[in-house]
Amino acid sequence: MTSITLGIETSCDDTSIAVLEGESRLLANEVSSQIEHEEYGGVVPELASRAHVVNILPVFHRALDQADLRPEAIDLIGVTHTPGLIGSLLVGGAFAQGLALATARPLVPVHHLEAHVVANLLDHPSLELPAVALIVSGGHTLLVYVREWRRYEVLGRTRDDAAGEAFDKVAKLLGLGFPGGPVIERRARQGDASTIRFPRPMLDHEGYDFSFSGLKTAVLHWVEEHGPEEVEARLDDVCAAFQAAAVEVLADKTARAAADRDVPTVLLAGGVACNQALRTEVRERAGGRARVLWPRPVLCTDNGAMIARTAVLRRDEAIRPGEFDVLASSPLA
Ligand code: KG4
Ligand code: ZN
Repeated sequence: MTSITLGIETSCDDTSIAVLEGESRLLANEVSSQIEHEEYGGVVPELASRAHVVNILPVFHRALDQADLRPEAIDLIGVTHTPGLIGSLLVGGAFAQGLALATARPLVPVHHLEAHVVANLLDHPSLELPAVALIVSGGHTLLVYVREWRRYEVLGRTRDDAAGEAFDKVAKLLGLGFPGGPVIERRARQGDASTIRFPRPMLDHEGYDFSFSGLKTAVLHWVEEHGPEEVEARLDDVCAAFQAAAVEVLADKTARAAADRDVPTVLLAGGVACNQALRTEVRERAGGRARVLWPRPVLCTDNGAMIARTAVLRRDEAIRPGEFDVLASSPLA
């Protein structure tokens, strides 16, 4: 009989629990996204952990109902233990340890960033390694060489803001709400990127590091220089120009890394990998030599499915419940 894995994700502002049968048959992937943070234009850590406390049991029951299973059917439990907001990680961790104790099942602590990359396996089970992976989320931006699963080399990372954070901050300064990525992408589709030229930070820099805070400041200066009426009238163009600048840098460095390492596969991962302009640009620049893959949108943003799949990959690293620890940050490799 194939085994059943429960994946629990509470590192930031989504409470998510998934049920995975075997390696890729997803029986449930329940996500409760917190709207509490909208009015603040960013995630408020204390509000996030409180909401996880309220959400986690209902999400667990919804996931089991959806999978039509009882808790005893679970064979393996995976839970995010790093990186993330400590209070939020603790809610998932405490729940997972309680469940592991009650059901006497093994518990695998999962690295959230590894899980974002591994999410690709759920939709592309036969993908070929080695790969270059671009991890672009609200808190992280990394270019990673995936030699094989569990063996990673970080090629570059952001020196300041994450890519998703830049989308969120630009949306906030334009008064577009939170999270910023989806609304900026929507606006950008109606705008003309060529009418405003924002800088491409570190594009000519030899390495694979990124920087997005200067781009965000450039948008802020444009907004300050042009008055509210013009900003309002040209919102779509501002979004399109900002997105084009961010996407060009991300796609250029990803394609360069893929060429330098001569990999057969490029993987996009994390919430910003939902962005259609980014997908198209990476495919245009790297698609000639490599297969460019990404997971379906619900598996790009935070989800329990990617945690379950990573737990399966690392099931020989299961710990006893009392040994579980959370970490606000820790390196992927
Ligand atoms: O991976 P994720 O769900 O959470 C973290 O681990 O941070 O990523 C969330 C980030 C947010 O910054 C959000 O604005 C961004 O992903 N995002 C997008 C899009 N959808 C979500 N950014 C650009 N375009 C999108 N369509
Ligand atoms: Zn994430």
